[in-house]
Amino acid sequence: MEKTTEFQPHPVFYEESGQSQLESFIEFHSKNDTQVIVLADNNTVEYCLPLLEQKTPWELPVIEIPAGEKNKNLLSCNDVWHQLNELQATRNSILINLGGGVVCDLGGFAASVYKRGIRFIHFPTSLMAMADAAIGGKTGVDFQDLKNIIGTFTQPLAVFIDTEFLKTLPYRQKVNGFSEMLKHGLIAEESYFHQLAEAGPEEVSPEMIRLSIEIKSSIVIEDPFEKASRKVLNFGHTVGHALESFSLENDQDPLLHGEAVLLGIKAELLLSEKMRLMNSSNARGLLSVIEGYTPDYKILQDDVEHIASLMLHDKKNIGNFPAFTLLKHPGMPVINQHCPKEMIVETLLEIGE
Ligand SMILES: NC(=O)c1ccc[n+]([C@@H]2O[C@H](COP(=O)([O-])OP(=O)(O)OC[C@H]3O[C@@H](n4cnc5c(N)ncnc54)[C@H](O)[C@@H]3O)[C@@H](O)[C@H]2O)c1
Repeated sequence: MEKTTEFQPHPVFYEESGQSQLESFIEFHSKNDTQVIVLADNNTVEYCLPLLEQKTPWELPVIEIPAGEKNKNLLSCNDVWHQLNELQATRNSILINLGGGVVCDLGGFAASVYKRGIRFIHFPTSLMAMADAAIGGKTGVDFQDLKNIIGTFTQPLAVFIDTEFLKTLPYRQKVNGFSEMLKHGLIAEESYFHQLAEAGPEEVSPEMIRLSIEIKSSIVIEDPFEKASRKVLNFGHTVGHALESFSLENDQDPLLHGEAVLLGIKAELLLSEKMRLMNSSNARGLLSVIEGYTPDYKILQDDVEHIASLMLHDKKNIGNFPAFTLLKHPGMPVINQHCPKEMIVETLLEIGE
């Protein structure tokens, strides 16, 4: 008989200025030997730690890792585990991941296997992490140039959202997070997509972040372990992850995750049109909206086969074909779509002109 795993969705707390719920939450979840430890990167130590410190009366030990996707790897995990040992962290310790998607994914993973799993709280500080990465319980690191190839499904104890952190986030990083929000609109609610496009990344409101969190949470609750319906969140990501991996391998200033996802959304809208799932006028209209935020990225004929082959490593594939999530219409995604190889190559060359 198949065993079912009970799924407990994590709570999300929205912080209001000057009023934090963190202290009472931690007190409620503390045991005798609970140590609360902060994980941050060098930027969030500088820009975000002072605000976090105002939220609790305690002086919390901090583990610092170097910022950036290139450090989202087992080497950084090694450092985290080493320092958890140095701090004599127990199984009842709680790790607060204070940072963007890299700190949340890596910290979540490191915590999920340390002493067979310690509890962790996500305190996301980038738009990407607030609206997407901190939500839903996927943890992981990159390995051998492949994105998120080592990881676990482990839910955080809670996620705390404070949009005050966004004040120090650079514009490029705002566009980066905005891309996943556009995706939420495209897969779930057309009016939200247009509302976002009208506002732009600088004018994202706390309500918009809350809506993205609600869209993602409602999808994750239906299918926490990504057996099927959660794959709708993969829209833009089959191409996006392949481009991100390729760019990490080859570029001096690699594409950010959200930039690669925007290129992926562009490609997967084109594929939706080519597969005759979406009518042309609809696809062209949506493409013109995202065009303004999509980076220029040249894809050479010589590289296109390699990029297409990177799609074969996507964890959501079935068998030896990339399994795309495509759209019939905004709000109507279809999962597990197989596109002919020539169509994929043609589309990559089209977006990389
Ligand atoms: N687990 C998931 O479901 C999920 C979903 C989407 C993305 N992700 C992952 O998230 C990662 C991308 O996240 P990201 O875009 O936040 O990247 P990131 O964590 O690298 O953060 C971006 C940069 O902004 C800095 N930063 C963060 N907050 C700041 C602040 N408030 N002020 C100033 N600087 C700040 C960081 O130090 C970093 O240099 C990718 O690895 C991606 O795979 C995971």
